[in-house]
Amino acid sequence: MGRRNKLDRFADNEKRPNVIEPGKDLYEKIKGHWRDLYFKNDLPIVVEIGCGKGEYTIGLSRDDQAKNYIGVDIKGERIWYGSASALEEGLTNVAFLRTRVEQIGQFFEDDEVDEIWITFPGPRPKKSQAHRRLTATRFLESYKKMLKKDGVIHLKTDSDLMFEYTLEILADRSDVELLESVYDVYAANHWATAIQTRFEKKFMATGKTIKYLRFRFIPGLTKRSIFTIITSLFKDCK
Ligand SMILES: C[S@@+](CC[C@H](N)C(=O)[O-])C[C@H]1O[C@@H](n2cnc3c(N)ncnc32)[C@H](O)[C@@H]1O
Repeated sequence: MGRRNKLDRFADNEKRPNVIEPGKDLYEKIKGHWRDLYFKNDLPIVVEIGCGKGEYTIGLSRDDQAKNYIGVDIKGERIWYGSASALEEGLTNVAFLRTRVEQIGQFFEDDEVDEIWITFPGPRPKKSQAHRRLTATRFLESYKKMLKKDGVIHLKTDSDLMFEYTLEILADRSDVELLESVYDVYAANHWATAIQTRFEKKFMATGKTIKYLRFRFIPGLTKRSIFTIITSLFKDCK
């Protein structure tokens, strides 16, 4: 790949067909059209949130050509690496989208996605920053909208805080089914150890355990909708 500085990488990204970013035609049109305008097939779509240099997206796409993979990150200089690997290896089932996860609803139609991976998100340890954790309620609401019915979310993290915080958020919802919770995937010889991200390697080198959660949204009532129904029933009784 040679040594490229940040500006060179941005210039490369502009020319690369597998990087969807502001200023490109597809960036404005892609919502609801990943299959027909980009992948040109009807295969399932898997999205990695906060993909960094894209090792996970690339690893998954290499292993399973029967799905389409999209790595999402705000940092163009990181996406550059994943995009370069995909082009070098001729992987046509991969794309990288440069956006903030806060805006992800602008790029995926309801029910467009089959699976989501959240890999080693920053734990944002300060309580005042909890709303920025990538499993905070507002993000889960976006993921729920873009996911198909029965679509699953996977979380891999080194952080006890992130793991416990996410379990609490999920337990507080009545529209979530927790499918799997593993505190140490390496001790458990779990399949999710098959591909390691850059941050995973870094955290493992410091002796951290790697944790994994898998969950899905289930049709049903959220606590908010139950509250609204009860309130309206009481109104009717007056
Ligand atoms: C700790 S790194 C992990 C990167 C990669 N998943 C890995 O395991 O090597 C977190 C990544 O999430 C991205 N990120 C964090 N918050 C984001 C947000 N709100 N929108 C888009 N990307 C975000 C960062 O740019 C960074 O690349």
